[in-house]
Amino acid sequence: MVSTVEAVGIAIILSAIVVIFHEIRGVGWRTREDISGAILEHRASTLAEVDYPEPMSRAVGGGIGAGVAVPTGEAEGELEAGEAETVEEGPWTKPDDEADIFEIEYVKEGQTLEVRENQTLLEAGEEQGWDLPFACREGQCLSCGGHVVDGSSEEFVIHNNQQMLESPELEDGYVLTCVAYPKADFSLETGETP
Ligand code: FES
Repeated sequence: MVSTVEAVGIAIILSAIVVIFHEIRGVGWRTREDISGAILEHRASTLAEVDYPEPMSRAVGGGIGAGVAVPTGEAEGELEAGEAETVEEGPWTKPDDEADIFEIEYVKEGQTLEVRENQTLLEAGEEQGWDLPFACREGQCLSCGGHVVDGSSEEFVIHNNQQMLESPELEDGYVLTCVAYPKADFSLETGETP
């Protein structure tokens, strides 16, 4: 009969043999090569370049394989292939050699400039090297605001798609210089908002 002490001893020896065997041979398990970088590179190479911030080109919650790129030209409101962009007619579409020229007094800058009717009040000032205020340059903020001294601004400028000034403000002489084209001589105060 094997005593309890002998049985425990045999068990310890067998355990030690198993541990030593695993240490020498290993378990045969190896970590896999990290291929996440390769997957990301492949994914980037299959997505079309877009002209808006990167997150907008991914499906919400997208992961590998779930990303959906919207090719430039297919986003909502963009032109179909071959479709001509329609530019609203206005003084801004006139060639330089056909554009009328108006005398605009920039009151704060102390100069009177000859400004073409196809040129914005902001551009004309910038050509002089003046650091005039602006932000969007699309008529969608008030950063470039100015004030026509001589009366209602609509008598002196044509705005190309301004979206900020209400009728009373226009009547008070306010303009958005980034989208305001002159149609008469007048005096302008830059850096003025309603
Ligand atoms: S800069 Fe924004 S409206 Fe002119």
